[in-house]
Amino acid sequence: MKRIGIAVTDPEDWTGMAFCRAVRHYDMQPVKFSFDEAISNIASGKIYAGSVDLNALDAVIVRDMGPATNNDASFRFDILCQLRENGALVINSPESIARAANKYVSSYLFQKNGISTPETEVTSDLKEALSALSCFERAVVKPVFGYKGIGVECVRNDEKGVRRLGELFGKNKLLYIQKFIQNPGRDIRVFVVNRKVMGSIYRFAPSGSLINNLSQGGTAEPCTLTEEQERLGLKAAEVIGAVYAGVDIMEGDKDYVIEINGTPSGRGIFGACGVDVTMRIVEYLNEVL
Ligand SMILES: Nc1ncnc2c1ncn2[C@@H]1O[C@H](COP(=O)(O)OP(=O)(O)O)[C@@H](O)[C@H]1O
Ligand SMILES: [Mg+2]
Repeated sequence: MKRIGIAVTDPEDWTGMAFCRAVRHYDMQPVKFSFDEAISNIASGKIYAGSVDLNALDAVIVRDMGPATNNDASFRFDILCQLRENGALVINSPESIARAANKYVSSYLFQKNGISTPETEVTSDLKEALSALSCFERAVVKPVFGYKGIGVECVRNDEKGVRRLGELFGKNKLLYIQKFIQNPGRDIRVFVVNRKVMGSIYRFAPSGSLINNLSQGGTAEPCTLTEEQERLGLKAAEVIGAVYAGVDIMEGDKDYVIEINGTPSGRGIFGACGVDVTMRIVEYLNEVL
């Protein structure tokens, strides 16, 4: 029986559990492990996570890479590359997870490939950041490696905003500053699996917040995409190289791709639309394995 590793930190995570069910559905054996417990022994070449021998897996599905400092993040990425070198199928590919996790790289790839994305400046020079803010008038500042809306803030080109940008620069030294897109208080999360759109949801921010992430109290409702939104979702997943992805689109004066998530949660779309994306992901895995 094929052994399918599921990298997940929280054993109760909805998506992690759904992946396990889906793997069993296709008569394969799910093996959960957490990157928190990763050990690699150089002399023997053995790679373990707790008691799980990662080299014995036929495939790895990455639900999450786990909370990590910079060293950890690259170690985990390297382990995935090594497992793949040793013959395991890894989805999403380590490279696509890394591109999606890095907002600088994904913005650059969107722009380069004709995917409309908000004007963005990334800089280690506070003066440059302030001049971008004065062009944008209203901007969103984000960590380059952020997720779940953590650390995303809106700043205006006024005294308070300029002060705040200075504070953020003091902490970060690298600022990712993006034009604020006037929007209807929601964004769209498009789920792509193997070059098809599986479904999409609107995510509404809780009142008084600009962040629509469901993990920050946002709510989900089913959404029907326009052709253009569907095209943007598919194209974004393609240029990042992700087999499956959650693409965030904001409806402003036109549609903009805000970001792409290479390890998205399947819970919101299941709740709102009854679509279990983990089933479709494992179906794909089962086909190519
Ligand atoms: N340029 C923007 N204009 C307006 N709102 C934004 C913009 N960028 C992000 N947001 C809001 O902040 C949320 C989090 O930003 P996002 O780039 O998706 O980061 P994360 O990786 O933390 O989810 C988005 O879902 C959206 O609600
Ligand atoms: Mg997001």
